Amino acid sequence: MSKHILGILCSGRGSNMQSIMAAISSGQIKAEIGIVITDKPEARALQAAAEAGIRSVCVNRRECVDQQAFEERLVSELKAAGVTLVVLAGFMRILSPYFVESYRHRILNIHPSLLPAFGGAHAHRDVLAYGTRVSGCTIHFVDEGMDHGPIILQDTVPVLDGDTEDTLAARVLAKEHILYPKAIELFVDGRLELLDDRHVRIKE
Ligand code: GRF
Repeated sequence: MSKHILGILCSGRGSNMQSIMAAISSGQIKAEIGIVITDKPEARALQAAAEAGIRSVCVNRRECVDQQAFEERLVSELKAAGVTLVVLAGFMRILSPYFVESYRHRILNIHPSLLPAFGGAHAHRDVLAYGTRVSGCTIHFVDEGMDHGPIILQDTVPVLDGDTEDTLAARVLAKEHILYPKAIELFVDGRLELLDDRHVRIKE
């Protein structure tokens, strides 16, 4: 079986991207990264990818006439790099059905809460405002809904008295860095079976 080629999309810091790069280097994930794409020229992930010798490009949303043109550029960069699995790692853009259809069942996302609770861009703030005692992170397949597709893996952290958005985010992020490589490993090893539009079975 030929190796999967990952296309990683990020908007900022890129710490999840780096945890994926480390898992590839260690042999945990048997795949390669074909391209890293950011939607912002200042994204730190761009530089980190370039330093690691990975093709990295910025597709600046502001330079595209509309969302369709933006997504067509993303898809053409991904296809040109031979990408077989799209990994959204802190990519702060909603993708339309056109993009989802272009890589149907081959797009993963990480979200820093226990979905379906606290989707959206302010998960930690919303968790603290609500007062839940537990939070965590979720890796899921991407479908047309926001933070919605079938769930692959989740892990939990406690929410502690006195937590701020920063302390909670740091506790969740440490789990993210373990969970995302694990989910990608399961995908590339062919161990994820989509039973229907909500349920994923992890094969032994
Ligand atoms: C992570 O918390 C991720 O779950 C969320 O955005 C953050 C990105 O962090 N979607 P990084 O860029 O991977 O460091």
